[in-house]
Amino acid sequence: MSRSFWSCCLQQYPSKLSHIFGVSTVHHTSIHTTQFRLKESPHNVKGKSVTAQKWLRRQLNDPYVKKAREESYRCRSAFKLIEIDDKYHILKPGHVVLDCGAAPGSWSQVAVRRVNALGDDSEALMGRVIGVDLQHMNTVPGAVILKECDVTADSTQQKISSVLGKTKVNVFLSDMAPNATGIKSMDHEIIMQLCYVALTFAIRVMARQATFVCKLWQGPEQRRFEAILEQYFEQVKIIKPRASRSDSAEVFLLAKNFTPPTPKK
Ligand SMILES: C[S@@+](CC[C@H](N)C(=O)[O-])C[C@H]1O[C@@H](n2cnc3c(N)ncnc32)[C@H](O)[C@@H]1O
Repeated sequence: MSRSFWSCCLQQYPSKLSHIFGVSTVHHTSIHTTQFRLKESPHNVKGKSVTAQKWLRRQLNDPYVKKAREESYRCRSAFKLIEIDDKYHILKPGHVVLDCGAAPGSWSQVAVRRVNALGDDSEALMGRVIGVDLQHMNTVPGAVILKECDVTADSTQQKISSVLGKTKVNVFLSDMAPNATGIKSMDHEIIMQLCYVALTFAIRVMARQATFVCKLWQGPEQRRFEAILEQYFEQVKIIKPRASRSDSAEVFLLAKNFTPPTPKK
């Protein structure tokens, strides 16, 4: 299972840390330049690798993890989409959103709120959110969840199309990430394959003027992918949200104002 999946789970269910990893947490103070700051450290980490300990420590001290818990988001990734949307206003009440790589569900949670998929705002249009993931995932109130479904498979794409019916997607999101091997060039290639499949499917299901957001790990194929996006969208931007870890090669491509290709005669 991918680290990103586990990191999401740990953020969502910190109290279950001890069950998953057999560790508990302790507080200690550390001196910052101007103030004392409470730092949490994993406890009972005997037998865990240095990397695992470092990773657990980072999770425990990440402000976005804390914020996600406070605001009932399933993981810190929520704040990447929130930041993108606050700046570029891509999610509007009434929109139809397809969230690819949705587990554990924080982007779908954000989308449900912002497109009014639960109809909380009776004055505004009601949107729809469809979340799809390879993994098992819990339901997200207000969203249709297709779990254990591979977005790259024809059968999944048919399922999505039948959920959509005659409606088209206004916002296509892909936060899909493969299990990282740690070999940068290989991980880049694999995630780019997901990006190409996502875009090919998006072109079939998106409405005119739709928005496409796609996560990738930077590398040589990125520029070619951007050039293809530029053929279909008026505006293409590379975004590194503050919530995206600075030591990660992750960036998001935001493509706005889709023009569908003219059908061949
Ligand atoms: C970083 S997580 C997504 C987090 C999610 N955006 C959230 O906020 O909760 C990446 C997800 O992509 C999923 N994924 C990877 N390849 C996929 C594929 N081919 N089809 C569907 N989901 C995929 C993984 O299972 C994983 O859950």
